[in-house]
Amino acid sequence: MDGRMLASGQSNAARPSRQISVILRNQEPPTISQAAAEPAAQPFGKTLPQHGHFAEIQKELEQLIGLDNIKELMFEIYALLQVSQMRNEAGLQTGTQVYHMVFKGNPGTGKTTVARIVAKLFQQMGVLSKGHLIEVERADLVGEYIGHTAHKTRDLVKKALGGILFIDEAYSLARGGEKDFGKEAIDTLVKAMEDYKNQFVLILAGYNDEMDFFLQTNPGLPSRFPIQVDFPDYSIDQLIQIAESMAKERDYMFMPQAIAKLKQHLQQEKTDSLHSFSNGRYVRNVIEKSIRNQAVRLLHQYQQSSPGKLELMTLKIEDLRLDQS
Ligand SMILES: Nc1ncnc2c1ncn2[C@@H]1O[C@H](COP(=O)(O)OP(=O)(O)OP(=O)(O)O)[C@@H](O)[C@H]1O
Ligand SMILES: [Mg+2]
Repeated sequence: MDGRMLASGQSNAARPSRQISVILRNQEPPTISQAAAEPAAQPFGKTLPQHGHFAEIQKELEQLIGLDNIKELMFEIYALLQVSQMRNEAGLQTGTQVYHMVFKGNPGTGKTTVARIVAKLFQQMGVLSKGHLIEVERADLVGEYIGHTAHKTRDLVKKALGGILFIDEAYSLARGGEKDFGKEAIDTLVKAMEDYKNQFVLILAGYNDEMDFFLQTNPGLPSRFPIQVDFPDYSIDQLIQIAESMAKERDYMFMPQAIAKLKQHLQQEKTDSLHSFSNGRYVRNVIEKSIRNQAVRLLHQYQQSSPGKLELMTLKIEDLRLDQS
């Protein structure tokens, strides 16, 4: 929630001001940690809270490769909510925060994955009652005649109440200018943010440049989205780590030669496709294809018998048919 989260090159002066709209709810107080629950007379500086609610979220975050800025942001939000709870109990004013966010990054950089984790964190901390994620794009919001768009958009906001409304490629709403129904969707969203202040969190996602342009062309918008998060492209090493962890999750493992081949291929692909390279999603597709190839190979290879456990787990260089992924 500070300069770290902003797009590179964006100065602090350009940051949207914080705005109050999500009120930390007290009706469903988050279970506070042991340390926080102790009487106020206890001295400061002893055991740290156990980060009860955060442990589960942390586990999910730890499975993600890289994304350090996001991991820090999650802890900042958690800390803020936790301390607000303590302040409330101590009879102090509790701050109010806006949690609407902009996620900027290329395809497959983890935006949807992180949005799901954010939804869970907010639900566990009592900010959102349900913690579900409604993921939409322009076509879901924009209608075909006057009034249709407002209706479609309002319906989706209603579905998102208690959770997160995540709009992918949000900049496309502004693409058609004043006369486009996209503008009606934006206006309806802005109104919904007022009407249902603390009942849902809106996340707008899209490519860096386009999201910057989108926010600039709508002067009322930046201040409504105080949390802006960058999702950088993954390095080759990070993509390989993602591949290895995806394989492990599915009880597979790559032979070293297969990893070397994948590395080389990713280097080439990243250079060739620049902005269209789909990072983690590309890797996932490669893995799923390799798993299918391995299955076919094993069936051909073991016509009379069954492969052993190790063989069932192993993805070999010949299973990576990278030209077809
Ligand atoms: N840091 C990461 N660690 C492990 N896996 C990741 C990471 N980032 C993305 N992935 C995986 O890559 C795939 C794509 O991620 P995700 O759908 O979250 O990206 P996205 O930014 O929403 O993409 P798009 O813009 O195309 O919608 C998922 O299978 C996800 O699990
Ligand atoms: Mg996505």
